[in-house]
Amino acid sequence: MSDNVLDRFDGNFSEEAAVDASRKVKVGIIGTGWIAEAHIQQYLAMEDVEVVALADIVPGKAEAFAKKFGVVGAKYYPSHKELIDAGEVEAVSICTYNCQHAEPAIYALNHGVNVMLEKPFTVTLEEAVEVMKAEKASGKLLTIGFQPRMSENMKMIKKIVESGELGKIYYLKAGGGRRHGIPTPYGTTFIEKDTGGIGAMGDIGCYSLDMLLNAVGYPKPLTVTGYTSDFFGTNPEYYTQDDKPAEYAEKFGVDDFAAGFIRLEGGIMLDFMISWAMHMDTIGDAIILGTKGGLRIPSTDCWNGEFSTPLTIYKDVAGKRVEYKIPHQAPTKNGKGLFFNKLREFVDAVKNGGEPTVPSSQIIYNQAIIDGIIKSNAIGKEIEIEIPEI
Ligand SMILES: NC(=O)c1ccc[n+]([C@@H]2O[C@H](COP(=O)([O-])OP(=O)(O)OC[C@H]3O[C@@H](n4cnc5c(N)ncnc54)[C@H](O)[C@@H]3O)[C@@H](O)[C@H]2O)c1
Repeated sequence: MSDNVLDRFDGNFSEEAAVDASRKVKVGIIGTGWIAEAHIQQYLAMEDVEVVALADIVPGKAEAFAKKFGVVGAKYYPSHKELIDAGEVEAVSICTYNCQHAEPAIYALNHGVNVMLEKPFTVTLEEAVEVMKAEKASGKLLTIGFQPRMSENMKMIKKIVESGELGKIYYLKAGGGRRHGIPTPYGTTFIEKDTGGIGAMGDIGCYSLDMLLNAVGYPKPLTVTGYTSDFFGTNPEYYTQDDKPAEYAEKFGVDDFAAGFIRLEGGIMLDFMISWAMHMDTIGDAIILGTKGGLRIPSTDCWNGEFSTPLTIYKDVAGKRVEYKIPHQAPTKNGKGLFFNKLREFVDAVKNGGEPTVPSSQIIYNQAIIDGIIKSNAIGKEIEIEIPEI
C-alpha cells in the first residue's frame, strides 16, 4: 500500500485555485495521526492558509508530523485544550479518533474557533447534541468531514431524486460493505471501545447512510430496529495475515457488522447494512425506489463512499420496462480531489460565511441512526428515536 494517504482518494491534486491570499486563515490540526496527513497536505497547498498549531496527546508525535510534511513555524501542543487556549487559530481540523470528537469540538466552539470535524460526527447521539448546543451558542462554523459530498457522482444521485424522475421515494437500501476489511494493522484506535467507540458503522456506515439520506433531503429518523455483531473482530483466526492476531482480537471492542431497519419521516423505509467483515463478497448495490422509477448505485467497499461505475435508472415507459445509465463522471469539476474540495469549502466558509456543505443539522440524523442501532441491539427490540431540542 502507498505511504501517501491521498492515494486513497480519487484525483487528489494539490493545486491552488484563485483565492484571496491577502486574507490568510490561521489553522490548527488537533490529532496528528493518519487522516491528519490528508488535511496537512491540502492545507499546505492553499496560499491563504497558515498551519500555525499542531496538537497530539502522544509526546513528540506532532513534531514528527511537522517534520515529515515540512511544516515551518507551527507551535506544538500536548492536547486540544492547550492549542485552543493559546488563542492563535481561527479554525481547526479535528482529526482525533471517534471518542475524542465531541470534547475538542465543544472546546473549540466554546472558544470561538471554527471547526472541521472528521467523520463520524461523534460516537453517541447525546455527544452530537452537546456539540450542536456549543455550535449554536458560539455562532461559529461546524462542518463534518464527509468528502464524498464533493463528488459529482454523489451530487448526481441527489439531482436525480430532486428532478422527480423517480417519483415519490418510499424505500432505500444501503449497499457495499467489506468482506475482509477491519482496519488493522494501522494501530488499534479504530477497533478499541475507548478510542473508536463504534466500528464499521462509524468508519464506513456513516458514509453509506449519508449518501442515501442526503439524496432524499435528510428526513428525520423515527424508529429503528438495529443489530450489531463482532464475530470476526474478536476472533484471532480472522487476523491470519496481520502481525498481531491475539492483540487485535483481545482489543477489539466495537461492531464489525451492523444492520438496521429505520422508519424515516415522509413514509420512507431505510434498510441499512454495513460490514467490515463477513462471509460474503458484498451486500450488493444501494437502491432507491420511487413510485415512478428506481435507481441502482453500484456497490462499493465504502472506504470513502465513492463509486466508479454508472448509475442505472429503471422505469416503465409506454408500457415497456426500460433501463438507462447515467455515465460515471470525473469526481470533481475542478480536477482537484474530494479531500481538497472538502477543506477548500471549509476555508472559504470561514472566510466568507455561509452554510457549510455538510451541516450538523443533517448529520445529527445520521448519528441518531447509528446510536439507535446500538441502543436497539442492546435491548433486542425496536426503539423510537428521540432527538432533544437544541
Ligand atoms: N474522511 C476520511 O476519509 C477519513 C479517513 C480515515 C479516518 N477518518 C476519521 O478521522 C479520525 C482519526 O482517524 P485516524 O485514522 O487518523 O486515527 P489515528 O489514531 O491515526 O489518529 C488520531 C490521533 O489523535 C490523537 N488524539 C486523540 N485525542 C487527542 C486530543 N484530545 N488532542 C490531541 N490529539 C489527540 C491521537 O494521539 C492520534 O495521534 C477518525 O474519527 C476517523 O473516523 C476519516
